[in-house]
Amino acid sequence: MTMPTTPASKVLDRVLVLEMVRVTEAAAIGASKLVGRGDEKAADAAAVEAMRAALNELAMDGTVVIGEGERDEAPMLFIGEKVGSAQGTGPKIDIALDPLEGTTITAKAGPNALAVLAVAEEGNLLNAPDVYMDKLAVGPGYPEGIIDLAKSPTKNVKAVAAAKGVDPSDIIVCVLDRPRHAELIAELRGLGCGVVLIGDGDVAGVIAVTNPETTIDLYMGSGGAPEGVLAAAALRCVGGQFNGRLLFRNDDERARARKWGIEDLHKIYTRDELAKGDCIFAATGVTDGSLLKGVKRLKDGLITTHSVVMRASSGTVRWVAGEHRNKS
Ligand code: FBP
Repeated sequence: MTMPTTPASKVLDRVLVLEMVRVTEAAAIGASKLVGRGDEKAADAAAVEAMRAALNELAMDGTVVIGEGERDEAPMLFIGEKVGSAQGTGPKIDIALDPLEGTTITAKAGPNALAVLAVAEEGNLLNAPDVYMDKLAVGPGYPEGIIDLAKSPTKNVKAVAAAKGVDPSDIIVCVLDRPRHAELIAELRGLGCGVVLIGDGDVAGVIAVTNPETTIDLYMGSGGAPEGVLAAAALRCVGGQFNGRLLFRNDDERARARKWGIEDLHKIYTRDELAKGDCIFAATGVTDGSLLKGVKRLKDGLITTHSVVMRASSGTVRWVAGEHRNKS
């Protein structure tokens, strides 16, 4: 006799919300041993291994839809990898993950490295290939459609400034500090905007628009497409708008997108097209940052962690401080 499977929505409800924190905590603790050690690969590998082990303890039929890469280039947590201890019987869950968002930051002990994942019922997260994505985000409280990636940065800044009742020169925009953004940064500075340049970690950069304490109004610029889906999942839980458009550098990247079922290569995706339905977003800080404090490895084997877990259907945001003993 086959056991009836539990609907995924029920499991998102009951079990997975807090279990997801365990998964990101495990990855962050794994990576924390490598903070400041100058070895990006080792830090990433430690996070991946720990996250994979934690995911495999969960009673679900999980599939990695955004992971470390395709099977031949990623030995673990590759796209399509099945995770969870209830394959075939448990609820079918899609998982987008980045065990170490900010490998360079971690190697250099810089700010804002995170262990991140988002989960949703099967089919609800865009299976984004590992290409770049042009991103535009604004925090909650603005009329729907106030931002539009089809319009210029100037038009978007002016629209948000008008809705906020301030001058464009009062708008603060977060941008990844990359040579490819020189024109964007010059345009924003030409408007008098404050430009917050971040070295890495645009998941935290996008989420910063939702936190008034950061004073960041907008996020603009290109970064990883997988990180775009993760950030959209977070904004789906806490509010805010997101636009993303995949960017392709060559035919190989276009072919990879088509392989994942993406037909319109120029489409501008809204937040809810990247992450649909109910979803959960969880993150644990690896190094201190605007969203979370990092892992602290203290005396007598005490390890402390700070995490956040959010759920779209309820809008609940939980901040979780962990004290871990007997972990290495
Ligand atoms: P990694 O953890 O893979 O190093 O990603 C860090 C990151 O800064 C992302 O947050 C961002 O989306 C991407 O790299 C930007 O890519 P690039 O460094 O090529 O500009």
